[in-house]
Amino acid sequence: MIKISPSLLSADFADLKNEVCDISSADMLHLDVMDGHFVPNITFGPPLIASIRKYTDLIFDVHLMISHPLKYIEAFAKAGSDIISVHLECDDNIDECISLIKKFGKKACVVINPDTEVELVFPYLDKIDMVLIMSVYPGFGGQSFIEDVLEKAEKIRKISDIDIEIDGGINDKTIKKAVKAGCNVLVAGTAVFGKENRSEAIEMLKNSGEEK
Ligand code: DX5
Ligand code: ZN
Repeated sequence: MIKISPSLLSADFADLKNEVCDISSADMLHLDVMDGHFVPNITFGPPLIASIRKYTDLIFDVHLMISHPLKYIEAFAKAGSDIISVHLECDDNIDECISLIKKFGKKACVVINPDTEVELVFPYLDKIDMVLIMSVYPGFGGQSFIEDVLEKAEKIRKISDIDIEIDGGINDKTIKKAVKAGCNVLVAGTAVFGKENRSEAIEMLKNSGEEK
């Protein structure tokens, strides 16, 4: 069974309560946190996550695109995150980030950018709950899927049965390739929030991903 994690980045920020309720048929909610330093864009932080936490029981899949996650993990944990993802390319020590996330009882995930060698994540696979492969350069929604990254999923799947999430440019065509390569958690921003009927969009993605 694959899991769909719609990215709030493509939602209407003036109507977040309804946007969140509109995707209740999804498996998770992907929350893109950007600091304007690690990536050239700024989004939102713990207060916004805490505000929407009241309106949904969905698993909060928090993707930290920030240079210094160590400083903020506690705040994101307390805001209601369930999974906290830190980039391998960030400026903090990854083992310390993983330990801190676990100390707060949350699931830990390590993210790798398109240009980062997949082997660099191998030493962490036994210590984390999920690995996130970026299929676009982080910072913005609506970019095109970078197919070359699928090889990373294949390499991880060969050695581990860990959850493999993929993020960026997922639609009803690219989702098939991602699942075939071994990904089982699919982030979709524009392919869900860009559509009029969100539950239909989630269902369509799920069906395409699971189709043989
Ligand atoms: C990009 C973000 C993604 C983005 C995905 O930095 O991490 O989660 O919102 O958006 P789509 O699905 O539109 O590529
Ligand atoms: Zn993301």
